[in-house]
Amino acid sequence: MRALELKGVSKSFGKTEVIRNVDLTVEDGEFCVFVGPSGCGKSTLLRIIAGLEDASAGDIVLDGQRMNDVAPAKRELAMVFQSYALYPHLTVRDNMGLALKQAGKSRAEIKAASDKAAEMLSLGPLMDRRPAELSGGQRQRVAIGRAIVRRPKLFLFDEPLSNLDAALRVATRIEIARLHRELGATMIYVTHDQVEAMTLATRIVVLRDGRVEQVGAPMALYNDPDNVFVAGFIGSPQMNFLKAAALGERGQTLGIRPEHLEISRQSGQIAAQVTHVEKLGGETLVYARSDVHGLLTTRLFGEQDFAVDETVYLTPVAARAFHFDAEGQRLR
Ligand SMILES: Nc1ncnc2c1ncn2[C@@H]1O[C@H](COP(=O)(O)OP(=O)(O)O)[C@@H](O)[C@H]1O
Ligand SMILES: [Mg+2]
Repeated sequence: MRALELKGVSKSFGKTEVIRNVDLTVEDGEFCVFVGPSGCGKSTLLRIIAGLEDASAGDIVLDGQRMNDVAPAKRELAMVFQSYALYPHLTVRDNMGLALKQAGKSRAEIKAASDKAAEMLSLGPLMDRRPAELSGGQRQRVAIGRAIVRRPKLFLFDEPLSNLDAALRVATRIEIARLHRELGATMIYVTHDQVEAMTLATRIVVLRDGRVEQVGAPMALYNDPDNVFVAGFIGSPQMNFLKAAALGERGQTLGIRPEHLEISRQSGQIAAQVTHVEKLGGETLVYARSDVHGLLTTRLFGEQDFAVDETVYLTPVAARAFHFDAEGQRLR
C-alpha cells in the first residue's frame, strides 16, 4: 500500500515558485528523508503534505485518497517540529494526552496510550513535570510522544533534532530509528543534515531549489549519484572534484571521495602541498593544494603523520571515480 503520493506538486509564494513539479511515492512503513540545503523547500513540501499549506498545483494522495481539500486535522498524520510547541501550563502527561482528550477518548484510553508512549521514550518518571522542568532533549521526546499517542498513519518530522546539542542529537536519532522499527510506521523526516539523512532513511529524497534531484537508498546515493549536486551534498568530508581534462579523463569533472584518493610521499598522479592535517583519532584527514585542481581532501585510516607544507602525490582510485559533464550530469 502506498502511504503517500505526490503528483506534479508545485507551490508559489507570490511570483516565486519554491516547489517545482514534485512527483514522489512513499510506501507503507518507509522512513523517507527529505534532505537539501536551507531554503530548498523541505519544510514547505512537508507542510503541503500536512495540509498547513495549499499546493498551487498537483495532487496530494494519502492512503489512496486525494487530500488537497481535506483539513489537516482529518489527514490522520502527526507532525513534530524543531520547536517543541508544548503547552507550558500542562504536565507531560496532559501534553501527551491532549489530542486524544480533544477527540473525546475515555480517560482510561488516554492513560493507556500515554503510558505506552512514555515507556517507549523513557518518559515514565517525568510524567508529572511541566515543560519548563525538562531538558531540550526531554521536551523533544515529549513532542514525539504526543505524536505517537495519536497513532497516526503518517509521522512528519521537521528538523526535530536541530535544537539539541551534538551528543543528544545522536542519542535521539538512534531513538527515532528504534521507534520507526517498533511502530512499523511510515515516517517523513526533513533535515539539512546529510548525516541524519544517511543514518535514518530507508530512502532519501535530495531537494534543490524546489526540485527533486535524486531519490534512492542512502548507500545508493553515496555510491551512485546522478549529478555533481548529489555527489557533493551526500558524504562528509565532501567529494573532491578534479579537472577531468588535466587527468586525461572523459567529461568535465572527475569526482573522487576522500577515502578513494590515495596519498604518497614518493609518486602519484597529482602533486600537491599539504595545507592542513586533522587527526580525528580513528582517521586522519589530509588537506593538500594542487595548482591544477585546487584544495583536495584525503581520508586515511588511523593516525597518519603528514605535516603541513610537505609535498605529496595524490592518485584517484580509478574504479571509484565518477565522471560528470559540463552541466554536472553523471556520465556512465
Ligand atoms: N510563507 C512564505 N512566504 C513567502 N516565502 C516563503 C514562505 N515560506 C517559505 N518561503 C520561501 O520558500 C523557500 C523554501 O522555504 P522552506 O520550505 O522553509 O525551506 P527549507 O525548509 O528547505 O529551509 C524559501 O526561499 C523561503 O524563503
Ligand atoms: Mg525548513
